[in-house]
Order: sequence, then structure tokens, then C-alpha cells
Amino acid sequence: MAYRIPVLVILPVIVAVLLYQLDTFDPAPYPDHELTPKQPLFVPKRNSHMLHGSEKIGVGQLLGPEDIAYDPIAGVIYTGCADGWISRVTVNESAAESKVERWVNTGGRPLGLVRGHHGEVIVADAVKGLINVSRDGTVKLLTDEAEGLKFKLTDGVDINLDGVLYFTDASYKYSLNEFFSDLFEGRPYGRFMSYDPSTKQTKVLLRDLYFPNGVTVSPDRNSVIFCETVMRRCKKYYIEGEKKGHVDTFIENLPGVPDNIRYDGEGKYWIALPMSHTFGLCHKGMLSSVR
Ligand SMILES: *[C@@H]1O[C@H](CO)[C@@H](O)[C@H](O)[C@H]1NC(C)=O
Ligand SMILES: *[C@@H]1O[C@H](CO)[C@@H](O)[C@H](O)[C@H]1NC(C)=O
Repeated sequence: MAYRIPVLVILPVIVAVLLYQLDTFDPAPYPDHELTPKQPLFVPKRNSHMLHGSEKIGVGQLLGPEDIAYDPIAGVIYTGCADGWISRVTVNESAAESKVERWVNTGGRPLGLVRGHHGEVIVADAVKGLINVSRDGTVKLLTDEAEGLKFKLTDGVDINLDGVLYFTDASYKYSLNEFFSDLFEGRPYGRFMSYDPSTKQTKVLLRDLYFPNGVTVSPDRNSVIFCETVMRRCKKYYIEGEKKGHVDTFIENLPGVPDNIRYDGEGKYWIALPMSHTFGLCHKGMLSSVR
């Protein structure tokens, strides 16, 4: 009966850890009225164009690459990896000749990337906050708190022509590896914010959001779209015009939970749906294009 001893030792430890973790766990019902009862939008399970003519780059060299920022002049793609590295992929006509190199390690988890106007890469880092990686690889923190609340899961970022950065902190309560606690607790700990490098000011534009994630400035520069992962929708926040400061629904009832969103410059937004709406993991990342 020797096997019982480790169980007796380990069990109280597990219980203690669970109790400690649940100590601040404060579940709430989701606002059902905000979720449309309709069938989720139809997206074919298999898109016949999916991966058509595509080639794989950097197989085995990139750990959980998330988001990409492209420098068309240098032919370089930046992507953030799960081991903290921002990797640089020099694109060649031949996928096999494309070179992957580790560029800068943030010491955190780079989730959102966008190229700045001075050759830098701006990173929404889940652990560190919003950071600036200059052309020569120097890492500088831009902001990691607003209204006295520290960010805990900085997630998506985009830049406007005037240099203002729009970004999300998915939760000020739970970190990235506590994602499921955030999900199960069902309270809106996320914020959508702006950072102006000329004044160094961080502004909270919207609060009480359910896991705000990817961010993209609209092509007409009148609004910023961001995904609200847990609510399976994307919202549109106006930064110009008569609706300035207002927020609308951009798309709702997605057939999965949205992660990043990017405009492709040719009339389409691409939204990555890593999980189906029942929170089952898709075998492959699924992309959906809207409008
Ligand atoms: C692609 O890779 C080949 C072989 O390394 C190299 O000779 C060529 O210059 C590369 N082309 C570009 C556009 O980088
Ligand atoms: C990032 O750092 C570089 C180098 O110091 C600077 O030129 C650039 O303006 C910075 N970008 C932002 C958004 O602060």
C-alpha cells in the first residue's frame, strides 16, 4: 500500500493550492441578453480556398507564433513566440530559403505586434505591457497601467497614421495562463485603451469588456475594431467623425471565439477563430473573412 503515501502527501497540497487559487474566484452569470440567440453565423468548416497555394515557413523554428507585422521594404515578417522571442522571418520566393532568426526576447509573451513609424516594432506583451522594440533591438516599456490598475494580459495593438497606439488589456485580474479562470468567472476585466507617444499618455477608452483581444484600425481611419473574445463578437470604436467616442457592434454571433483581427488592405478583415463557439479546440486555426 506504499502508493497511498504520496497521495496522502500530495492531496492536501493540491487542495491548498486550489483553495488559495479559488480564494479570489468570484463567478458571475454572463449577460445573456447581450448574446444573440440566433444560430451562429455560417462559416464553412472547410474553405476550399484554405491553404490553397500556401507554403509553410519556419516549421519547427517558431513556438506558438502569434500575430505578424510585415515590413514590405525589407521583406521581413515579425512574429511573437511563446518562449518570449520575437522572431524575424526574411521572406524568399522559395519558402524553404526563407530565413527564421530569433531577434529579441521580451522576457514575457509577445501577443500583438505592429510596425511603428520609425522602424520599431510595437508589442502588446501579455506579461510586460505595451513595449517598443526599436530598430536596433532595444526594448522599452511604453505603458503597463492605466487609472491605477496594472495590466495583466496586454493582448492586441495597432497604430494610426498620427502614431497613436490602440491596444487591449484582456484582463487586469487574470494572466495568460489563467485564461480559463477569466472565462469561468465571467466578469469583464478587460479594457480598450490608447497610448499617445507624443504625450506619453495612456487613456482608457472602454472598460468592462469580456476579454478584448485583437485590434485593427479601419482603412478609413474613422474607427478601431477590436475582438471581444468571450462574447464571440467584435466592436467598432469611433475615433473620428460625429460618432467619435461611441461604440457599435462590428460583427456578432461568430461561429468561434475571435482572437486577432487584421485588415488586408484589399477590402477584407481577417479574424482568427482558434476555438469553436462551444469552446472545442479547432484542429487547425480557422480564418473567417468579413465584409
Ligand atoms: C533567396 O535565397 C537564395 C538562396 O539563398 C538567394 O540566392 C536569393 O538571393 C534569395 N532571394 C531573396 C529575394 O532574398
Ligand atoms: C520607439 O523607440 C525608437 C527609438 O528610441 C523611437 O524612435 C520611436 O519613436 C519609439 N516609438 C514609440 C511609439 O515610442
